[in-house]
This record gives sequence, C-alpha cells and structure tokens, in this order.
Amino acid sequence: MLPALAGMSHPLDTLDWPVRTERLLLRRAAPDDLDAVWAYRRLPEVYEWLGAAVPDYDAYRERYLRPERLASMLIIERGDRGIGHLILKIQDGWAQEDVADQARGVQGSLGWTLDPEFQGKGYAAEAVRALIGLCFGPLGLRRVIAECFADNEPSWRLMERLGMRREQHTVKESLHRTKGWLDGLTYALLAEEWPAGGRGTGATIR
Ligand SMILES: CC(C)(COP(=O)(O)OP(=O)(O)OC[C@H]1O[C@@H](n2cnc3c(N)ncnc32)[C@H](O)[C@@H]1OP(=O)(O)O)[C@@H](O)C(=O)NCCC(=O)NCCS
Repeated sequence: MLPALAGMSHPLDTLDWPVRTERLLLRRAAPDDLDAVWAYRRLPEVYEWLGAAVPDYDAYRERYLRPERLASMLIIERGDRGIGHLILKIQDGWAQEDVADQARGVQGSLGWTLDPEFQGKGYAAEAVRALIGLCFGPLGLRRVIAECFADNEPSWRLMERLGMRREQHTVKESLHRTKGWLDGLTYALLAEEWPAGGRGTGATIR
C-alpha cells in the first residue's frame, strides 16, 4: 500500500470531489445512484458485456450497497443527469515474494459503462481520461489496466483511443454467459507513458 493511502477505505477517499472535465462531472457514487445505474446496466446490450451477473434488482442492490463496491464507483454526470459510471479497483502488482511489500496497491484496474443513450459522443473517453489522470497524478499509481472480451469492440476501441497498449490476447479463455468461450484482451498504461502526467484533472489531494 502506498504510504499516503494507508488506512483509507478506498484511495478515492483521498481526493476532493467532484472532478470536472470539459463537458462532464465525476463524483463518488452514493446509494441513491443505484436505481439510475440499474436502469441502463440491465439493458441487454449493456448487461451482455458486464462481468458481474446480477440478474435481478434485489441482488444488484445488495451487491452494490456493499461499502467496498460503492466506494470504487464514480458517477459520470452530464448536466444534472447521470449518464454512466466508472469503477476503479486498486490491485497489487506482481512481485517476487521478498519485494512484494513494494508492489502493494500500485495498480488501478479500470471499468466503464455508459447509458446507451449517451454512447458515441466521446463521453467515456473524456471521463476515463480524467480518471487515468487521477490515477497517475494525485493517487500516485504506477500502472493502470483494463480487460474486456475481444468481441466487445467498443470497449477495446476506447482503450486504444486512450493510448492504452494491448498487452495480452488470450484465446478462448474467457467464458461468456451466452456466447461460450471467447478471446480476452488486457490493455495497460504506465504512469510515465501518460502524456498529461496526471495534470489537468482539476483534482487535489487532501
Ligand atoms: C465501452 C463503452 C463505454 C464505449 O462507449 P463509447 O461511447 O463508444 O466511447 P467514447 O465515449 O470514447 O465515444 C467514442 C465515439 O464517440 C464519437 N464522438 C462523437 N462526438 C465526439 C466527441 N466530441 N469527442 C470524441 N468522440 C466523439 C467518436 O467518433 C466515437 O464513435 P465511433 O465509435 O463510431 O468511432 C460503451 O460501449 C458501453 O458502455 N458499453 C457497454 C458496457 C461495457 O461494455 N462496459 C465495458 C465492459 S469490459
């Protein structure tokens, strides 16, 4: 765990919110957001790509009301409307056992979902760019990654738009609930590869 992040329930707690981008506002999720998120995440064209299988509303609420889940979620707002959400999970880097302490909590795993009504307008790229800036800026992470099914072209195209590097293409390794065993992709980016160097997100660390 990075020293600045020790004792925090989630590293995102250390930042000042909301964070504004050119067209959007990012803020921490609250229990009141869950209904609006459910309205789009349950749509078949969205649900089919999501890893978390929560088939009904009650199961979904129970899962996402867990503090660690809610704490990792950011709401993307356009005007006064929630149009999607991001997830930031903090992970350990892989390390040899004797140096594993130095690899704790150094990596961010990113996730994203937009309400289909707001897709195709560059909002996901704008929001994720800001999140990556937070990861490499005030949060001090050294690497971010994102994963998707290879068939989820909008998702990996987003990663490429953001300048992430395709580092792994696994063959029929990822089981999809209706499509069977599919190829999987992992993209990554290092802090030193981030052109903005984490600046320009509008965020400050407490
Ligand atoms: C993955 C997902 C977030 C991508 O959303 P998206 O809207 O395609 O991504 P962006 O916000 O980067 O928008 C890019 C598109 O907006 C267009 N666009 C329009 N106006 C734009 C603007 N002002 N600036 C930038 N792009 C703009 C781009 O040309 C591009 O269109 P194209 O895909 O036809 O080339 C979305 O498809 C989604 O929520 N999918 C379902 C959930 C999911 O799969 N989650 C990930 C699981 S791994």
